[in-house]
Amino acid sequence: MKLAVVKESRPGERRVAIVPEVAAKLAKVGVEVVVEAGAGTAARFADEEYRKAGATVAPDAAAALAGAAAVARVQPPTLAEVEALPRGVSVISFLQPVAAADVVAALAAKGATVYSLDLLPRISRAQSMDALSSQATVSGYRAGLAAAEHLAKFFPMFMTAAGTVPPAKVLVMGAGVAGLQAIATARRLGAVVRAYDVRAAAKEEVQSLGAKFVELDLETQEGAGGYAKEQSAEYLAKQQELLAAEVTASDVVITTAQIPGRKAPVLVTEAMVRGMSEGAVIIDMAADSGGNCELSVPGEDVAVGGVTVVGLANPPASMPTHASFLYARNIANFLGLLVTEGDLVPDFEDEVVAGTCVVRAGQVVHGPTAEALGLPVPAPVPQPAPAAAPEATEPNEGTEPKEAGA
Ligand code: NAI
Repeated sequence: MKLAVVKESRPGERRVAIVPEVAAKLAKVGVEVVVEAGAGTAARFADEEYRKAGATVAPDAAAALAGAAAVARVQPPTLAEVEALPRGVSVISFLQPVAAADVVAALAAKGATVYSLDLLPRISRAQSMDALSSQATVSGYRAGLAAAEHLAKFFPMFMTAAGTVPPAKVLVMGAGVAGLQAIATARRLGAVVRAYDVRAAAKEEVQSLGAKFVELDLETQEGAGGYAKEQSAEYLAKQQELLAAEVTASDVVITTAQIPGRKAPVLVTEAMVRGMSEGAVIIDMAADSGGNCELSVPGEDVAVGGVTVVGLANPPASMPTHASFLYARNIANFLGLLVTEGDLVPDFEDEVVAGTCVVRAGQVVHGPTAEALGLPVPAPVPQPAPAAAPEATEPNEGTEPKEAGA
């Protein structure tokens, strides 16, 4: 089976879907990786490394795609890229299919089978394929570093002959995978960290990383699958009011709060930013999905009085080598469910395969996307019970495809 990897086209995207080490592992299970020349360059993987790993390097995207049974990508294809795909190909990518319904419709018209890794059920068995988690880990780390870079103060306490410097006070809002990694990173750099989340389960995880959990006199907002549910305007207004003093007292605020498939909730208002002290920093990790801070602009540093509001855009792309490494491992592990003895034979009875599939042989099978496209809505795939989130600092363990005959 031939798996094509093309150069990502979205501006600023530096990741690649398959790295040489993973290409070598796939070759052992009968998956021939064909990479467009230069696809890994921005992530620091040279064409020569792919060749050494047993992959083929094709001169351009068209040559890489010719005869491919599947394509691995990071970002959704553009409509022009869909046009260039072979008929009936399988596509594995992040897709956010409801937001990219036009791309999904074009893929369906190509008779494609499409898997969107952001839909992967978050059950124990699928943790090694969980690309949302692996990339959130990178994002949280980047957010912690960005905070330390932008703050004109030390993170750790310093006791020097010239005097003692107190540690920076960091507040992390949203303690999911990315938030926990931001906490861990700020703690490693020596900051004093406080954190808040609307899910009660986050308290123990925050404390296990040596941070203090901020308790608010508000109901928890646990939704389906271990995620937060969408909060009402009244709830968010109350939360902003209760958190204002925490924000004002912090040197750094890192926000990571998201609601799957929705605009990110506003946690930090302009008034709260104006209440912060000179030199304070806000790192908004949700800038791409509408922003947790009212003033953030994706990809920009906005100065408001003496405060800098940093809208992180696509943070994993700024650490492309390891982000790609983890993503490629996730893809290889997912391919383990689709490939047997070098043939693409997905088992749609498998809840992980079915739950991740958006289009099956040209048919839109993901309910919310079908609804967005005005198509008949298929019966929902039964949702398995969620598992606990993986440890904040532990990378995923692999379960690659089985060797032929194994
Ligand atoms: P996410 O990226 O969707 O959201 C980030 C965090 O923001 C979440 O912790 C959420 O509770 C929080 N949040 C939402 N609204 C908020 C508000 N108004 N104020 C403060 N915080 C707010 O979440 P992520 O990181 O993708 O995962 C969340 C949960 O998903 C985990 O705790 C876990 O239950 C589950 N999970 C399960 C995995 C598995 O394989 N078993 C892997 C990873 C996550």
